[in-house]
Amino acid sequence: MSSIKDRKKTTVLSFGAKKARGEKITVLTAYDCFIAGLLDRAGVDCILVGDSASNVIHGFDSTLPITMDIMVAHTAAVARGTQKALVVADMPFLSFQPSVEVAITNAGRFLKEGGAEAVKMEGGLEMVPTIKRVIECGIPVMGHIGLTPQSIHSFGGPKVQGKDDSSRAYLMESALALEEVGCFSMVLELLNADVAGEITAALKKAATIGIGAGPDCDAQVLVTNDMLGLRKEGFRPKFLREYADLTPVIVDAVERYICDVKDGKFPDKDESYGK
Ligand code: KIV
Repeated sequence: MSSIKDRKKTTVLSFGAKKARGEKITVLTAYDCFIAGLLDRAGVDCILVGDSASNVIHGFDSTLPITMDIMVAHTAAVARGTQKALVVADMPFLSFQPSVEVAITNAGRFLKEGGAEAVKMEGGLEMVPTIKRVIECGIPVMGHIGLTPQSIHSFGGPKVQGKDDSSRAYLMESALALEEVGCFSMVLELLNADVAGEITAALKKAATIGIGAGPDCDAQVLVTNDMLGLRKEGFRPKFLREYADLTPVIVDAVERYICDVKDGKFPDKDESYGK
C-alpha cells in the first residue's frame, strides 16, 4: 500500500476519470475524525458522511430524525481527519426537499461549515430541478436513487427496486436526468443487479455507486460500522459482507478492564504518577 503522502487527492473529477478507465472506485461511510483518518490511510477514494449516522451512531430506527446541525458537526469532524479522500456530506430528510432556496442554503452549509467537497441528495426525476440549481451554485452533487431511505414509509419498507418495467424505466430516466444536470456520481441502492448494470453502461460520465446493486457498478459503498461488525443484532442484509467482527473484540476488552479494576489490578505502579 502506498503511503498517504504519496497518494493523489481524490476530487469529483477522479470519479469520471476512473469510470472512463474502468477502474473501480471505493466509498465507505464515516462520522468522526478518527475513523475517517483510518479509512483515508487505508486508501479509500471517498468518505461519505451518511445520514445512516442516524441509525448507527444515534440509535434511531431510520434516517429521518437526524438534523442539519448534527450532520454538519459529523461532516466537520470527518473533514478534519481526512487528507486525500473526497468528503461527501449527505443532506438529511427535509434539508433540501421543501424548496430550491432551502436546498442551496443547506448544501452550502456543508461546504462552508463542514468542509465537505460535495453533497449527496436522494431522489430521482422529481428532485432533478433542485439538484440542477445546487450544481449551478458550484456545489458538486452525488445523486441517490433506488431504495432511498428518506422515503422508507412511501416504499413500505426496504424493498428491492427495479423489479418491474415501470420501476426500471423510472430508474433509468432518473439516472440519465441526474447525469444530464451534472451529478458526478450517484448511489444505486437495493436494485436488481441487471438494472444497475444497464444504468452503469448507459451513463457516460457519472459513476454509479452500488449498495445492494450487484457487481457491475463503477463503485461500491458500505456503511463502515456494518462491515466492521458493529451493527444491531439481527441486522444482516444479503448485500453486506462483514470484513471484521469488532463486537467481540470490544466486549472482551471491556470485560477484562472491568475485572482488572474490580480486582485492584488496574492501574498498577507503572501506570500511576509519583512515588
Ligand atoms: O447514509 C448512508 O450511509 C448512505 C449510504 C448507505 C449510501 O446513504
